[in-house]
Amino acid sequence: MNICEWTSDYSVGISEVDRHHQRLFEILNDLFNLMRDGAEDKPILKVIEELLDYTNYHFTEEEKIMEQMHYPALAQHKILHQELIQQLKTFQASAQSGMAIFVAIKIADVGLAWLKNHILTVDHQYSEYMKQQGLQF
Ligand SMILES: [Fe+2]
Repeated sequence: MNICEWTSDYSVGISEVDRHHQRLFEILNDLFNLMRDGAEDKPILKVIEELLDYTNYHFTEEEKIMEQMHYPALAQHKILHQELIQQLKTFQASAQSGMAIFVAIKIADVGLAWLKNHILTVDHQYSEYMKQQGLQF
C-alpha cells in the first residue's frame, strides 16, 4: 500500500529531479509499510539511513542544477535543505536509541508533509525561474 504517489502536479520540469522526488516518495512508502507491518528496529533503521543518504544525494544534485541556472534564491533554498537534513539526523539518532517504529511514524508524517510542501512551493519557484530564463536541464 502507498500513502503517497508522485503525480505530474509535482513535476519541476527536470526529469532527473522528478526521478529523485519519485524515489523519495517510494522510500517514505517503504517506511510506512514497515510501520504498518510492525517491523523490528533493524529494517526500520536501514530505511531511515537510506532516506537520509538519498535526501543528501538529491539535495546536492538539485543545488548543482540551481547553481548552473544562476538561481538568485539558491542560498535560502540551501538553508531549507539543511534544516530537513538536521531534522532527519535528529530523528535517526532517536530511532537508534530504541523503539524505532514510533520515530518512523513521525518521520513518515513530517517527511511527507515537508516533501510535498517543498516541491510545490520552493522547488516550483526555481522551475518557474528556469522557464522564464528559457533554460533547459
Ligand atoms: Fe529543493
